[in-house]
Amino acid sequence: MRILITAGPTREPLDPVRFISNRSTGKMGFALAQAAQARGHEVTLIAGPVTLPTPDGVTRVDIETALQMLDAVECHLPAHEVYISCAAVADWRPAVYSPTKLKKAGMDGTIQLVRNPDILKTVRPLKDNKLFVGFAAETGVPDAEATRKLNEKGLDFIVANDVTAPGAGFATDTNRVTLLYPNGTREDLPLASKLEIATAIISRIEQLRSVTDC
Ligand code: PMT
Repeated sequence: MRILITAGPTREPLDPVRFISNRSTGKMGFALAQAAQARGHEVTLIAGPVTLPTPDGVTRVDIETALQMLDAVECHLPAHEVYISCAAVADWRPAVYSPTKLKKAGMDGTIQLVRNPDILKTVRPLKDNKLFVGFAAETGVPDAEATRKLNEKGLDFIVANDVTAPGAGFATDTNRVTLLYPNGTREDLPLASKLEIATAIISRIEQLRSVTDC
């Protein structure tokens, strides 16, 4: 299969010095790319600003902002059968970018923000019979919010993680996730390395794809 994966944070610049972003390191998304490639899939990895090396055999596209990530997803999605949206996309960006460093004296302590587009929702019309998998990063029991996102974004399944749980979420080498499906079924994956979690997610995608293909 050809699998498109987004990973890492996006970075929303205010001026050449400052930006809004989040704690994503790209580890989970890069593990997905590595796992998919190891299982013989063709992988395109759209990466926000992270310091990780590209997994062997994976095609990497680097972007910085949410708008650039959206452009890259729209460009590459048509050539893929699966889209895994693991990136932590910034929901907001500064309304105005200053090409020169903002001076403290000229700032009043408020930053005007505008909403970034939701990438999964924006590309939903391109879904056809592609498989879309999302993630939900929640603080606390993730099920209710993750189920809302699963339905709202029209996903085939969602990977829910409580990013406050020990060993889970941002920057860790391990994760603990629950897979939630549109028919209400759920699967709890125990704490494991991000590569093991990624391999399990890719195998669920393979199972779904073989059922769909029959
Ligand atoms: O990168 P690591 O340090 O390894 O951390 C891993 C992780 C915590 C980032 C990862 O496991 C994870 O949970 N990724 C999703 C983070 C996120 O943004 O979740 P969300 O609940 O805000 O978004 C829900 C879904 O919509 C996600 O699939 C997201 O990629 C997508 N989204 C969100 C906002 C937006 N503007 N467009 C989107 O497509």
